[in-house]
Amino acid sequence: MCPKSTDSGQDPFRAPKIIPKEKAGDALTTSLIAAVAVISVLSISITAYSVVHAPIRPDPELFDFDYRPTSVSHLAFGIGGSTATWADRARYSDLWWKPGSTRGYVFLEEDPAGPAGSGIQHRVSSEWRRFRRTKGPESAVRMARVVADLFRVGLPGVRWFVIGDDDTVFFPENLAAVLGRHDHQGMVYVGGNSESVEQDVEHAYDMAFGGGGFALSYPLAAELAAAMDGCLDRYHYYYGSDQRVWACVVELGVGLTLEPGFHQIDIRGDPFGFLAAHPRAPLVSLHHLDSVQPLLPNRTQHESLTALMKAYPADPPRTLQQCFCYHRKHNWSVSVSWGYAVQIFPALLTAMELETPQQTFKTWRTVSDGPFTFNTRPVSSDPCKRPAVFFLSSAEEDGGSEGTVTAYRKAGDRVTSGCNEDFARAMAIENITVLAPKMEQQEWDQSPRRHCCDIEENLRNRTMRIRIRRCRNSETITI
Ligand SMILES: *[C@@H]1O[C@H](CO)[C@@H](O)[C@H](O)[C@H]1NC(C)=O
Ligand SMILES: *[C@@H]1O[C@H](CO)[C@@H](O)[C@H](O)[C@H]1NC(C)=O
Ligand SMILES: *[C@@H]1O[C@H](CO)[C@@H](O)[C@H](O)[C@H]1NC(C)=O
Ligand SMILES: *[C@@H]1O[C@H](CO)[C@@H](O)[C@H](O)[C@H]1NC(C)=O
Repeated sequence: MCPKSTDSGQDPFRAPKIIPKEKAGDALTTSLIAAVAVISVLSISITAYSVVHAPIRPDPELFDFDYRPTSVSHLAFGIGGSTATWADRARYSDLWWKPGSTRGYVFLEEDPAGPAGSGIQHRVSSEWRRFRRTKGPESAVRMARVVADLFRVGLPGVRWFVIGDDDTVFFPENLAAVLGRHDHQGMVYVGGNSESVEQDVEHAYDMAFGGGGFALSYPLAAELAAAMDGCLDRYHYYYGSDQRVWACVVELGVGLTLEPGFHQIDIRGDPFGFLAAHPRAPLVSLHHLDSVQPLLPNRTQHESLTALMKAYPADPPRTLQQCFCYHRKHNWSVSVSWGYAVQIFPALLTAMELETPQQTFKTWRTVSDGPFTFNTRPVSSDPCKRPAVFFLSSAEEDGGSEGTVTAYRKAGDRVTSGCNEDFARAMAIENITVLAPKMEQQEWDQSPRRHCCDIEENLRNRTMRIRIRRCRNSETITI
């Protein structure tokens, strides 16, 4: 790894004189002592040392042989906010912020006039106007510095610094579990990119998009805090704060570790198809929720998220996880997206079709039908082939079975005349109850496998019960 030699204005083509980082202060001190031997040696060495090392304060707890698995208590959140809009935007972080459990700050331009009215405390961003900027809003520089500002607070026992926007909704327990699978003592940069290919082409495939949030291990955040200001001047021509941070991470020789549960939500329209076929990975974040239709019909986006956030604690690792079962008598394929929606397709579809998101949405910038960074399938043009959809109505833990009971209610009535019997029978169902064992976060540590389910139907009272279970050995999801 190259030391930060470019910052000191050295000619990179001259024979590199690589000074190991830990020794840099000493070498500098020595030459200064030789040059100005008359002056107090002690005071100079202290000054020189602090210039080189000031931002890097080793965290004593990091080397404290803490072998506990990574939990929310090991995370520090840095939210990029704005004084003018924070009172309104705080409604997003208040959905997931738990005072006393989550730690961190929202960073604003200045102290808000009135009370912020949020569980998350604010801090004022340090100087950001003096940096060169030829593209992007002024806030892009300020937000990029959130990493350094948050690091310099010096919160104890932090393994991961997590950066997000003021409209990012995090799922903290899942985030901690996902990060726990990576080495927090190494230099690690974890996040996700954009769902819209046009955005990845315009910005970068290899950068973590800031709205979906990203995480930096402690050692990487320490290096980044030291290198950030130089990077900001060098990468003045980038649009966003996330791209500036990424450029700086790249200068440290580190690349992005993609985790499929971070969601920038760079899509327009109805996110249903995407959320009902979530990747086989824990849900970590959602963003751009003001720009897409509400997750639940007849509810505001905030009501929808509040409902989702009520189901989430009942079984965090299972949230939005999909499983499939078939009702052979009625030719139904049933897809459950736990804690969100159940669909009954009036036809037998393969597991491959069921796990491919239906394209109920468009791309972010040009509002086109793709391409996306995942495969999609079109929503059927024949209304009789579209699924009956049931959305979350309640979620609770079941003490007896140590599992969960989630209920889903049919979304509106659809005309069934002209459609076949299978469709009419599916539309006659009003409520679906899903029983599930709780998932262990550790299940995601091994090679994760989709769960199986069985249908217990009773059409007389217009309800259907689905029981989720772990698949048996050699069991396949086959029509
Ligand atoms: C199920 O679908 C098959 C093939 O599409 C069809 O032959 C059969 O009649 C259907 N069964 C019912 C009960 O609708
Ligand atoms: C939404 O509201 C409309 C009109 O009030 C109603 O017809 C429809 O059934 C409602 N949908 C749901 C899912 O509650
Ligand atoms: C529907 O019938 C099943 C089986 O008889 C029963 O367990 C369930 O409680 C009933 N649901 C309602 C809402 O009555
Ligand atoms: C479906 O559930 C709702 C409560 O969410 C209840 O009011 C309604 O009666 C149920 N319908 C049937 C047919 O059981």
